[in-house]
Amino acid sequence: MDLQLSADALDASKTSALARGKLLVTDLEVLTVTPTSAVISWVTHAARLGMAIPRPIAAGTEVAIGPVGGPMQLVHEDPTPRVYHVVEVTGLEPGRSYQFRASSDGQLAAAALRPTRMVGCCEHTRQFTTLTLPQGRYLTTVAVVNDIHIGERRQGIVLGALPTSVTPPPDQADYPRMMCAGALDELGTRHGRPMLIANGDITYDNSPEQNLIARELLDGYGTENIDWIATRGNHDHPRREDDPFGDYFVGYQQAQSVHEASGLRVLAMDSTRGSGGGWITPGQYGQIMAELESDPGRPTLAATHHPVTTDAAWSSASGPQFMLRGRDRLKLQLIERQAPGVFLHLAGHTHRMRRDRADLADTNAHYLENAACAAYPGGFTLVHLFEGGYLVNFWRLNDPAALRWIYRSRWQSLGIGAHLMLGSTADRNHRVDVDLSGLTPSGRPVPAELVC
Ligand SMILES: [Fe+2]
Ligand SMILES: [Fe+2]
Repeated sequence: MDLQLSADALDASKTSALARGKLLVTDLEVLTVTPTSAVISWVTHAARLGMAIPRPIAAGTEVAIGPVGGPMQLVHEDPTPRVYHVVEVTGLEPGRSYQFRASSDGQLAAAALRPTRMVGCCEHTRQFTTLTLPQGRYLTTVAVVNDIHIGERRQGIVLGALPTSVTPPPDQADYPRMMCAGALDELGTRHGRPMLIANGDITYDNSPEQNLIARELLDGYGTENIDWIATRGNHDHPRREDDPFGDYFVGYQQAQSVHEASGLRVLAMDSTRGSGGGWITPGQYGQIMAELESDPGRPTLAATHHPVTTDAAWSSASGPQFMLRGRDRLKLQLIERQAPGVFLHLAGHTHRMRRDRADLADTNAHYLENAACAAYPGGFTLVHLFEGGYLVNFWRLNDPAALRWIYRSRWQSLGIGAHLMLGSTADRNHRVDVDLSGLTPSGRPVPAELVC
């Protein structure tokens, strides 16, 4: 529906008594921005004295959009009462700046989370710019999902006796399996089943049962080392007596290297040491260096569960002791600098979306922390490769049950967690120019959102 109307009319025509007095339309997020589309989301709560209280209120959904400086058009209007409002606007032009108004029952959605309230950010300005395609032919797409935590019963960092974690409702008690299955389903049905990196914290505490569930889910997605590859996270650390993760996936401190259909090398490493922080043992360094030295220029996507930059370590709320130890962070970056084909290093662990600053100024590698699948922000990232660079897009699960859990788990860590994990629109969606012309098109169809 393409009704043209002024923004003020949009507000005034739908305002109800409920909206004026009790409805809080909040948590506005410009979550995903591609070359031709954008996903805008928000929630509706009850409010008391202007503050959100944990009582969702269902309301209608409206989005109007237009080019910056031009008129806005109502492109989505759905009176169906709902609490979690997600609107994907398609048919946009690459590299164009748009303004938008998102509202429920006529009440404008407001930004609430810290990264959405920064001056100049998309939710603050209610503007965004679609991405542009990198130069050259489309090559392939790789997906990454991490922090699945199969077997977990409560979500959030537990600080002593404080009740900081979030418990799921009874019908969502097994939310990790629901979220993982949902991500795999959306990757398969909507995104063409790209090769998937499951980057650690696949289980909650490395029990045989949890590993079996995870293995069955991933086997349902495809064949190991062809369709998916798994790394170990700190939650998957070997136990005192045994190592089910090693039995089901890969042995402790073993590096793995696989080639995707485009020729892309995926180098998946084990950065785990114990229950929190990480290390890399001398034996694994030998494997990593041998692999990279065998073909240093081959475009390579590296992955460890732990982030590997000082920037990540010192900006994490959990502190550097929760990270890969300092000497390993630097050593791994030095090794990756010596292999100029390493263009992107993916990490999880912090459950946040963040582009990290490399410690070494003259490295080809970019460093990206990817948010969690098991809970808020609740999704996966696609890396679309072209001959002249790549695009990063984070996608939240879109299933109503998943959305219900995502917005419940948004309140983890006394409600602070979401502020730290969401990242900026650009952390989740960006383009990097880098020479990937050594790869060949994989034959995968170009994803719909990249067809301009
Ligand atoms: Fe985790
Ligand atoms: Fe972790």
